[in-house]
Amino acid sequence: MKKIKISPSILSADFSQLGNEIKRLEEAGADMIHVDVMDGHFVPNLTIGPPVIKALKKKSSMIFDVHLMISPVHKYIQAYSDAGADIITIHPEATNDLNLSILKIKELNKKVGVSLNPETKIELIENYLDKIDLVLIMSVNPGFGGQKFMPEVLKKIKTLKEIQNERDISFDIEIDGGINFDNSKLAIEAGANILVSGTTIFKSNNGNIKKNIELLKSK
Ligand code: DX5
Ligand code: ZN
Repeated sequence: MKKIKISPSILSADFSQLGNEIKRLEEAGADMIHVDVMDGHFVPNLTIGPPVIKALKKKSSMIFDVHLMISPVHKYIQAYSDAGADIITIHPEATNDLNLSILKIKELNKKVGVSLNPETKIELIENYLDKIDLVLIMSVNPGFGGQKFMPEVLKKIKTLKEIQNERDISFDIEIDGGINFDNSKLAIEAGANILVSGTTIFKSNNGNIKKNIELLKSK
């Protein structure tokens, strides 16, 4: 079994202190940093883009797990790669040619992630599972932090595990949205090995990030 990793979402961090917030995450033992990029079009919210990621990357040696909720995504892949993204995750609905976008990310020597919204079926990406590094299962409709976890997405994780066994492949399975100390266990049991968390990491236990990371990892 893969080691469980926590990817805190900086969407819930203090945006006026992002550099320090990333240092705080690093010191607390975060495995990577989840950066939510939103365009006000693919999702109804706007966040940050390449210049901010580039500036933050200089402050940290952590893995930048960049979740692109932008459409059309293809023409921006290069910019996020140049800014310092290590993992680039895209939504299949946000590109006209998923194969081409996957190839582009690989060509740039970045890890490729593909994300499934709660309503999106695995069939849409089934033919690409042998080529990608990570599947990001959305457990809320993307756009905002602090939403309620949708337990029905867990069955997609189980199906992905079955496909992995059948095909003898081993992409990471990441889950994102509404993760707390109760459902983290369900996600891990279902087969997720990377948990994204914003609200729980930054707000629980008076913002004790170290404790929150440990609690999320515990089964
Ligand atoms: C939602 C984002 C998530 C979100 C996680 O669109 O992709 O990364 O910020 O935050 P919480 O843990 O608060 O749901
Ligand atoms: Zn995200």
